[in-house]
Amino acid sequence: MHQNGAADVDVTSLCLAVRCHVRARRHRFPSRASSMANSPTPGTHTHQEDDDRDASGAARALTVGSLNPKVVALADHHLAGRVARRAQNMQEDLESNPASHPFNEIIYCNHSNPQSQGQQPNKFFREVLALCEYPHLLDRSQTSFLFSSDAIARAQDILGLIPGRSTGGYSHCQGIEGLRDAIADGIASRDGLPSYADDIFLTDGAAAPGTLNDTGNDFLPLITVGPLITYSMVLRGATLVPYYLDESKGWRVNISDLKKQLDGARSKGIAVRGLVVVNPGNPTGQVLSEENQCEIVELCKNEGLVLLADEVYQENIYTDQKKFNSFKKVAGSIGHGEGDISLVSFHSVSNGYYGECGRRGGYMEVTGFSSEVRKEVYKVASLSPCSNISGQILMSLVMNPPKVGDESYTSYRAERDGILSSLSRCAEAMVSTFNSLEGMSCSKAEGAISLFPSVRLPPQAISAAEAMNTEPDAFYALRLLESTGIVVVPGSVFGQVPGTWHFRCTILPQEEKIPLIISRFKAFHEAFMEEFRS
Ligand SMILES: Cc1ncc(COP(=O)(O)O)c(C=O)c1O
Repeated sequence: MHQNGAADVDVTSLCLAVRCHVRARRHRFPSRASSMANSPTPGTHTHQEDDDRDASGAARALTVGSLNPKVVALADHHLAGRVARRAQNMQEDLESNPASHPFNEIIYCNHSNPQSQGQQPNKFFREVLALCEYPHLLDRSQTSFLFSSDAIARAQDILGLIPGRSTGGYSHCQGIEGLRDAIADGIASRDGLPSYADDIFLTDGAAAPGTLNDTGNDFLPLITVGPLITYSMVLRGATLVPYYLDESKGWRVNISDLKKQLDGARSKGIAVRGLVVVNPGNPTGQVLSEENQCEIVELCKNEGLVLLADEVYQENIYTDQKKFNSFKKVAGSIGHGEGDISLVSFHSVSNGYYGECGRRGGYMEVTGFSSEVRKEVYKVASLSPCSNISGQILMSLVMNPPKVGDESYTSYRAERDGILSSLSRCAEAMVSTFNSLEGMSCSKAEGAISLFPSVRLPPQAISAAEAMNTEPDAFYALRLLESTGIVVVPGSVFGQVPGTWHFRCTILPQEEKIPLIISRFKAFHEAFMEEFRS
């Protein structure tokens, strides 16, 4: 499992080159501590110079200096990677010497990887997938005993949509048409509005679609958007204009603040084209109110912004007070149809009760663009081969799960509800722990998969962090890791109001681990506050 944050970024081939390069270094060169002990005397050449040459001493074809500077800059500010890398080293320590740290396992509360944390894949989805991957099973008599009848029927239907009945071929660059039909049907029944296969572009996950910002536009994202999409936009030439969510109001979008940022950017000559909204929110875990969503839609309409709605957590809702409403539905409810607002909705198979992030499947539904712009979007999509077929199939299943009366319905529903209610209980336990601790406060987890508590760090802790040239929240996260094995992401990775400190903590660890996480966390925090008390 790759814990390095840089690997989470939408990886370009150049980025891959950087990663291979870094890996090679890890094996060839001594650890940081020993390399510092053996640091070269002034005037002699450095390890960096060594590394820029091959075994024969000739200059390598690529050096960090000759790479795309956008790639190098990204890697540089990936604080999350620093904490995750330390966690990985500690994991290796524990494997070779279980007594090397004061705990026996690393607990990853830093990344969105549900199945790596023990979440089980949905049985119906995997049955269909297995049958599609190996269609010969459909000819075997034992299959009707091993697989449910609706999974068999669904696999037959899906294979019937694929030329050659094989998942090994390329598909149409937007994805298999029949699967897009199924996804459009799922969207239409979710929203009560028409949806069309032509508007669906199947992708290798929500972090992957570069199609829309390969034109070098400037985008206005939420400052607390997950780094994946924003970083992939930066790699493609977009300028990010950040703004803050309103923590005091349950992380709602403060429209006047947003407008101020927009006007400020425009007055500097930045042509802002779009607004990225993540709902339910990552890392903040809020579900936007319908009223706030209406304000966002109006702003986009009035300001001529494309609304890029990251809706990957639409199934992760933990409150009865709110429900997920797609931005398309909200726009429709206030009378804005395709002619009024340009909207892209992103979804993926990575989260929800399915958590199939390693399968890489997603879609974007593109509505309200002129036919000329649509042609350009299509042109960019057609430059790449199709997204992977298993991901396409899974996405169609997510949007069209078993229905009442289908053989798998009961087990599908039980698996789904079991996972989501367990996540809800984990979130509630963690929120109430964080809120009980000195200097911490945490909004209720309404949705998504993480919490974003704030920590009022004592001035002495901030000074200690500064003395180590470390962001105070990264200092806190590293100390937490060293004493408990719990990995979280420092808030500065996402952005936060200056002078406030946060961390992102996922609610994905298995429920039976939560009491242990809570007790370790409490003990650490109390000792930390005591240590740095003025
Ligand atoms: C808000 C948000 N969008 C997109 C993604 C990435 O989705 P995918 O795995 O589909 O690329 C994540 C990560 O889980 C996320 O948190």
